[in-house]
Amino acid sequence: MRIDVVTIFPELFEPFAATSLIGRAIEGGLLRLDVHDLRRWTTDRHRTVDDEPFGGGGGMVMSAPPWLGAVRELCGDRQVTRILLSPQGRRLDDRLVRELAQVGDLLLMCGRYEGVDERVRELVVDLEVSIGDYVLSGGEVPAMALIEALSRQVPGVVGLADSVERDSFRDGRLDFPHYTRPRVVEGLEVPEVLVSGDHAAIERWRQKRALERTARRRPDLLGSDDGEADR
Ligand code: ADE
Repeated sequence: MRIDVVTIFPELFEPFAATSLIGRAIEGGLLRLDVHDLRRWTTDRHRTVDDEPFGGGGGMVMSAPPWLGAVRELCGDRQVTRILLSPQGRRLDDRLVRELAQVGDLLLMCGRYEGVDERVRELVVDLEVSIGDYVLSGGEVPAMALIEALSRQVPGVVGLADSVERDSFRDGRLDFPHYTRPRVVEGLEVPEVLVSGDHAAIERWRQKRALERTARRRPDLLGSDDGEADR
């Protein structure tokens, strides 16, 4: 999988690209992640990427020319899906992650300030993606969230394919509870079934707990809205 990122803060991606699963995926050639500084496509001495909004009001708007230059140069003749991270986008969920893992090369565009000139959207953006109904200062953290979720879909990135298959949301449910040693923590014991050695019973217990938890915390995932909100 190849992902290009355009940002005014490329340095934010350095530790991200060097750590844990992502670091190993890049090193092992399973993921190619190229991060580009948007200012490379500016033409003035101050390498300006923003300007005041037409119509007035507060804040600054990212201007179109650097974005257009970046997208056109980086995509060239390649078939690339160009994604702008923004709170106005389609909400990221497991379904969208799986869709995007299938479309081939991606270009992630990290907006900042009050937003990006609308003509960027019209001319070079295929899809806008939001990671939730709250506003961050830029698209960098959302881009990392998307990259991390996508990389888990690349065969070989997560050691045991089984652990991706078992991820929360895979079958429209939250995850079941997990336990490890020590067996007793401040008086709380591991459920007996998990140390019984009866694998069929363990599987039944896990399915039941996942379903109960989903019904209580996220009834919307089960197609109903009447659970308790006890998160
Ligand atoms: N940029 C700022 N807030 C964002 C959000 N919630 N999702 C994606 N990009 C963003």
